[in-house]
Amino acid sequence: MTRLQNKIALVTGGARGIGAAIATAFREEGAAVILTDIDAQTGQRTADKIGATFARLDVASEAEWEAVARRFPSLDVLVNNAGITGFEGPFDGQPPAHDPENASLGDWRAVHAVNTDGTFLGCRHAIRAMRAKGTGSIINISSRSGLVGIPMAAAYAASKAAIRNHTKTVALYCAGQGLAIRCNSIHPAAIMTPMWEPMLGNGPDRAAREAAMVADTPMRRFGRAEEVAALAVMLASDEAAYMTGAELTIDGGILAGSAATPGG
Ligand SMILES: NC(=O)c1ccc[n+]([C@@H]2O[C@H](COP(=O)([O-])OP(=O)(O)OC[C@H]3O[C@@H](n4cnc5c(N)ncnc54)[C@H](O)[C@@H]3O)[C@@H](O)[C@H]2O)c1
Repeated sequence: MTRLQNKIALVTGGARGIGAAIATAFREEGAAVILTDIDAQTGQRTADKIGATFARLDVASEAEWEAVARRFPSLDVLVNNAGITGFEGPFDGQPPAHDPENASLGDWRAVHAVNTDGTFLGCRHAIRAMRAKGTGSIINISSRSGLVGIPMAAAYAASKAAIRNHTKTVALYCAGQGLAIRCNSIHPAAIMTPMWEPMLGNGPDRAAREAAMVADTPMRRFGRAEEVAALAVMLASDEAAYMTGAELTIDGGILAGSAATPGG
């Protein structure tokens, strides 16, 4: 368990879900981990549990990125994991509309501030922090939603597509600068984390809802955050030294086919 020995890794949105699983796997592989989140209480608790250092970081805030850069000037791995769908709540009444006809500009921008701006600021910080050594790995958590349209989550899908493309821009920029700083994106779908709670609820129909949500997934189950973390470990390690600008799906086979497959 030493694939990330001597590496310093920063994970955004690491308090829970996929970010917490990545931070845990990185620690298990020997990395020093800076676990960041806006949820300081849960973030500190998770960091204490796995032996990471907690730092508050709202990824949408340029000032908070600058504070983190001053505190942790050197970095080998950055995972831009923090992300929101826009359906987190709590809401006063109905959740906001996120379809392209009814979404408000404010709700659209709020999702982009975290997902798109946050990833831009993170990549910028990482390139600067990795430049002295000339090596590093930036891992951007996009989504299946960054590769296909999602009618009821327009801002989320557009922001995840922006992350996919920015990953390739960063990869080419770094390679062009003669830097061995790699940048790749991971595209998960249907990973069981607290992000799904508002959609699953705690009613008697929870199990049925869960089954319905993965009915179209070829592997007929939700993925586990640890399965995404295993992919992040590989991309963070030197085993992936020749991988940059790549997009890796981890979705139980969803994007391997088409909903309109003849014969099912
Ligand atoms: N769970 C899935 O099925 C799934 C599928 C595709 C992509 N993803 C992506 O994976 C990433 C993690 O998702 P998850 O399911 O673990 O979500 P989650 O909601 O369980 O966890 C997200 C974490 O990000 C933090 N966060 C929110 N806004 C932040 C901000 N402005 N700055 C810093 N931290 C912030 C939250 O406090 C939370 O700890 C997200 O980018 C998400 O879009 C998840």
